[in-house]
Amino acid sequence: MATPFTPKQAHKFDGALLAKLQGNVSEQIARQILELIPPIAPTSKIHDNGCGYGSVTNEILASPSTPKDIQITATDINAALFTPLAERAEKEKLPVEVKQMDACELTLPDATFDLSISNFCFPGFKEPVKGAAHIKRILKPGGRAAVTVWDDIPWRELLVETHRKVRGADAPPPPFLIDNCPTERLRDILKEAGWQGVEYVTRSGWLSVEDLREWASLAWSFLGHPPGGWTPKDEEVWDEAIEIIVKGLDGICVEDGAGGWKCEMFATVAVWAKEA
Ligand SMILES: C[S@@+](CC[C@H](N)C(=O)[O-])C[C@H]1O[C@@H](n2cnc3c(N)ncnc32)[C@H](O)[C@@H]1O
Repeated sequence: MATPFTPKQAHKFDGALLAKLQGNVSEQIARQILELIPPIAPTSKIHDNGCGYGSVTNEILASPSTPKDIQITATDINAALFTPLAERAEKEKLPVEVKQMDACELTLPDATFDLSISNFCFPGFKEPVKGAAHIKRILKPGGRAAVTVWDDIPWRELLVETHRKVRGADAPPPPFLIDNCPTERLRDILKEAGWQGVEYVTRSGWLSVEDLREWASLAWSFLGHPPGGWTPKDEEVWDEAIEIIVKGLDGICVEDGAGGWKCEMFATVAVWAKEA
């Protein structure tokens, strides 16, 4: 099979680049999730679903109130993204097991976890209701779950507009730019999966951007990927796309006072306790 074409300017994504793209904003929401649930009890078993490079796991471990004898199982479909977490867990002998697993086909055992956190991964799920049903299945009675989705991504429309400008209005939009799991959809998904009594709250965090041009290039590499795959035309119009994004970001981000930029993002946090 021929290797799919990739523009020479596109970044090859790994955990470190995802961390740069997310600009510490996932961590801020993860911290706020921990404030919305009861304190983590000793010997808790915790599931970090769609863990990526580990923002949730890292925040749990960094919290001074987290007991030392907890066990975290971090799962993600994409091994390239979780490698930094797996390497750190091994090197620092952390109580963290990292496994490659599709959240819609979780093979973790029934009624085992006290807490499962899905931070901004539901929009990537092909069968989100199945994903939510698995979380319900693996939680102990009385166990808690939290699911987050972005409510307002100020730069999403800018990337959609960039797509239209460089590829034409009729070109099918990149899957990552279709908001397929906004709050209303999340409510339907969790209801269909049998989660009753979910509490929904809004929390915000600030995306940190060190360099607008670098961030534009990371965002276009990760989120601008067209549904049929990159084409040589994408390589030709790459610089034009980045230029449009950089100009647009100037009106969306504000200076952070330390030479960089920041932009506020709002998330919906769904918090649920499984029937005891
Ligand atoms: C935006 S990142 C968030 C990562 C991490 N939870 C955080 O808060 O930084 C979304 C993550 O969901 C993962 N993901 C997407 N679809 C998935 C699936 N079906 N099963 C497991 N993980 C999935 C991606 O690989 C990616 O690591």
